[in-house]
Amino acid sequence: MKPDFKRFVGQVAVVTGGAKGIGGACALRFAQEGANVAILDVDMKAGEENAKACMAEGVEALVLNCNVADETSMQAAIDAVVNKWGRIDVLVAAAGIYSGKPLTEVTMKQWQRLIDINLTGVFLSNRAVAPVMMKQKSGSIINISSMAGKTSFPASAEYSASKSGVIGLTRTVAMDMAPYNVTVNAICPGNTVTDMVVKEVSVQVSAAVGMSPEEWIQMRANDAPLKRLAEPWEMGGVAAFLASQDSRYITAQSIEVDGGIIMT
Ligand SMILES: NC(=O)c1ccc[n+]([C@@H]2O[C@H](COP(=O)([O-])OP(=O)(O)OC[C@H]3O[C@@H](n4cnc5c(N)ncnc54)[C@H](O)[C@@H]3O)[C@@H](O)[C@H]2O)c1
Repeated sequence: MKPDFKRFVGQVAVVTGGAKGIGGACALRFAQEGANVAILDVDMKAGEENAKACMAEGVEALVLNCNVADETSMQAAIDAVVNKWGRIDVLVAAAGIYSGKPLTEVTMKQWQRLIDINLTGVFLSNRAVAPVMMKQKSGSIINISSMAGKTSFPASAEYSASKSGVIGLTRTVAMDMAPYNVTVNAICPGNTVTDMVVKEVSVQVSAAVGMSPEEWIQMRANDAPLKRLAEPWEMGGVAAFLASQDSRYITAQSIEVDGGIIMT
């Protein structure tokens, strides 16, 4: 849903995983509210498409080929953003992958790849923007964790561990950045209609519990008190709130945006 107000005119938002899905919706939301947007992703085709949608909102958009798990790649991307616009007001760290297998089948390679992207990638992005925001004495960092960081489902050891790690990382980065007037929070989405859920999670988890992917998605919708999955733009709206003036006294939090499913 497109807002009819613009809170970020003249600001710069960096979104990792900003090509599509939740990150894509966050990038578009900041563009709709007037921010210039940098999309850091490994999917250049989807990144260019989302950048076009952002630019249609009358802002500038930059697409940078960045693997969040790679220190050099991350630093080069952040340097490019600062070279272009001279500041960074918002970071949304949304890049992530899913893999799930029963515990005894999780290989070291699978474990390490997921931790590198989902946890180390968030650390590297937070660390790279920190000096910029410290110098400005302003900024908002929003890390995308998951309900899986607070509760768990079977066959998701590395995913749950990475997302719990993001919550812990968020709290401690919030402490480090508080003296510089930078807030740091995490969003914990419930199941959201993106490629990750429709093409990956539903396929892998449903197989483990003997359902079809469609049945599993319907079950997850029914499990939520609001009786549906989330739409990506709903995460964009919360990210925008966490970067706005209305949330300046909120930091070190991990906020569930899950239709109430954590209560069930
Ligand atoms: N969809 C959900 O239900 C859900 C729920 C909770 C949390 N999350 C989290 O939200 C975030 C976004 O997930 P999504 O559902 O939008 O997934 P998605 O697959 O639709 O999008 C993920 C994006 O991250 C990018 N990406 C993947 N690896 C990367 C890397 N190494 N470097 C840079 N970019 C990379 C992909 O190219 C893609 O554009 C993830 O961190 C995910 O764990 C999703």
